[in-house]
Amino acid sequence: MKGWQQYWRQFFLFGLLSLALTGCGIEELSTLKPSGPVAAMQFDLMKLSFSIMIGVFIVVMLIFTYVLIRYRKRPGQQGIPKQVEGSHTLEILWTVIPFLLLIVMAVPTVTTNFELSKAYSSEEALQVRVTSHQYWWEFEYPDLGVATAQDLVLPVGKKIQFTTTSADVKHAFWIPALGGKIDTNPGLETPLWLQADRTGIFYGKCAELCGASHALMDFKVEVMEQADFDNWIAKMKGAVETETVGATSEIAKQGEELFNQSCLGCHAVGGKGGKLGPNLTNFADRERVAGILAHTPENVAEWLKDPQKIKPGNNMPNLNLDDTQVQALVEYMETLSVED
Ligand code: CUA
Repeated sequence: MKGWQQYWRQFFLFGLLSLALTGCGIEELSTLKPSGPVAAMQFDLMKLSFSIMIGVFIVVMLIFTYVLIRYRKRPGQQGIPKQVEGSHTLEILWTVIPFLLLIVMAVPTVTTNFELSKAYSSEEALQVRVTSHQYWWEFEYPDLGVATAQDLVLPVGKKIQFTTTSADVKHAFWIPALGGKIDTNPGLETPLWLQADRTGIFYGKCAELCGASHALMDFKVEVMEQADFDNWIAKMKGAVETETVGATSEIAKQGEELFNQSCLGCHAVGGKGGKLGPNLTNFADRERVAGILAHTPENVAEWLKDPQKIKPGNNMPNLNLDDTQVQALVEYMETLSVED
């Protein structure tokens, strides 16, 4: 039987090829393509420490190779070579150089840290309260009287002051292309400010192991022009004040009735409902279901039939709905929109 030694060339080749894959990333979800000042500052720090590391690696390898060749064993050489130890010059040199390199990294790191831990007031920044739950995100705009879940909506080019906390266990709030991350802790409020410099869609992640569905705890960030954002806020407020969202068709009305009986205790729609589950006021406007599935009526039905199948360990009970009930609920939920 062949040992692994027979295959070392293949291992080596595939090892090298796997390096090529490490560069993969998409703009909406990459720290290497910063789309705001915080992400840019963090990327600068990465570039700085990486250049220093590459520099050190090259110098060490050059010296290593030189020594290997220069002091190799020559033909006819007997015994071990002359041993040298305790060179003061060398000792000082390899203490001072790393010290200086660490200073070069430490100064910008510390100043950036102070810059990033500033907390801005309502006059300076849009305030957003983030609460993490197993396994979804709640976003509230306390100054604007609006709440949403899973889809975070932000105006472009404006500082956003997040106040983060958790409803259950420790999670971490992270929008790679905009910056972060920050741990969200139950019973503690932690500030984080971010800003998006271009409109579009970004994706956020939970970055702290928080339970069975940690890896499924994604959210979407939609960055829009200030006017569009104001418009969205106005519509969301309208839905809260007039409770006009929802049911149009007969089957949707049946769905609404069922929803009011079975779901409203945990989920808010417009001005009514509970806060235990995601706010569903603009559910039909979301591109994803549960933060991870494509938003199709089939997927909504799939979720309603067995929530645990899609996100194991989440807090939504199986309501044991029959197909007609599921259909009515889906029909109703697809009318929950604040868009025209
Ligand atoms: Cu929430 Cu991981």
